[in-house]
Amino acid sequence: MAKLFEPLALRGLTVPHRIFMAPMCQYSASGGLAGPWHIRHYAERALGGAALVVVEATAVRPEGRISAQDLGLWNDSQAEALLRVCEAVHEAGAKIAIQLAHAGRKASTRRPWEGSGALPESEGGWAVIGPGDEPFDPSYAKPRAMDHGDIQAVVDAFGEAGRRAARAGFDAVELHGAHGYLLHQFLSPLSNHRPDAYGGGFDGRSRLALEAVDALRSAIPSSMPLLARLSATDWLPGGWDLEECSLLARAFAARGVDFIDISSGGLATGAKPPIGPGYQVSLAARIKADSGITTGAVGLITTIEQAQQIVLSGAADAVSLGRLLLRDPYWPLRQLPPELRRAPAQYLRAYP
Ligand SMILES: Cc1cc2nc3c(=O)[nH]c(=O)nc-3n(C[C@H](O)[C@H](O)[C@H](O)COP(=O)(O)O)c2cc1C
Repeated sequence: MAKLFEPLALRGLTVPHRIFMAPMCQYSASGGLAGPWHIRHYAERALGGAALVVVEATAVRPEGRISAQDLGLWNDSQAEALLRVCEAVHEAGAKIAIQLAHAGRKASTRRPWEGSGALPESEGGWAVIGPGDEPFDPSYAKPRAMDHGDIQAVVDAFGEAGRRAARAGFDAVELHGAHGYLLHQFLSPLSNHRPDAYGGGFDGRSRLALEAVDALRSAIPSSMPLLARLSATDWLPGGWDLEECSLLARAFAARGVDFIDISSGGLATGAKPPIGPGYQVSLAARIKADSGITTGAVGLITTIEQAQQIVLSGAADAVSLGRLLLRDPYWPLRQLPPELRRAPAQYLRAYP
């Protein structure tokens, strides 16, 4: 059995241990461009000892932003700005991935600390798209149902963003298929009622996610790992569930996805996830057992004993830490055995 402080190989990338930083939106970009905040924020978590820093949900098209302050990667200037983030993270000794995303019907909202629900067009909001015309909830924008041209444009945009990410210096890219954003909206029978080839049974609902995987896999170098994030269940009757998620994980693996971070929920309001310490770990364990794919566990993992047990028991191959690293970026460094600590030379006297 592997251990938390053992290397993990993902295609051509080997990370020295298995504590990852989970992707977390900063809602702090202008025009989709990374700026000083992003450089400092990600470099600090890299200095703090995370083996792999995963940059927040980054929109592949402008209408796919959650808020107007999301990062984007639909043009070359955005790639250039992200290159600075990659340099800073590499200099601090970590590897870096980027989560590529499209928010679908959950796009065009305010950033969380400025209120919830749709951002009105009078305040810079934009028209949103989705698998159908049902909004996420009544306070969100009503989407326009995507036609085949819209679908192709999104698939192409994932490929283009992957190509830019590789050029900007990222070590891996992650496809965001979780939390009720566009790909998950297509996956779930609760949000996808399409009568065409992109709806219906499992094969139809999975089509867009698989096309996005194919677009990314052929856009990035063959040595570069392709990661994905999936919600394993909607936590709602009649919704996307572990069974279908396992099937998708198998299909992802067959198409060249190397790692899936297993999260849950986000598709619709009214879900009741059993929130508590490590509450999604058993979902990751099930996907790993069913599909054989390398997985990450995430969600309320806050102690070193918990993290070690998750990997040692084989429930998952890595742990992703979110809020813990917002509160305490240096948490991993304090846990790491001396041989894995890569405290910067400037700080070495603090780590005898
Ligand atoms: C401020 C914030 C922003 C987040 N943004 C993203 C995101 O961009 N992409 C994503 O997949 N999950 C996002 N999440 C979810 C986290 O990645 C993580 O799955 C969740 O916080 C549970 O892990 P934790 O208990 O360790 O925080 C976000 C969470 C927080 C707190």
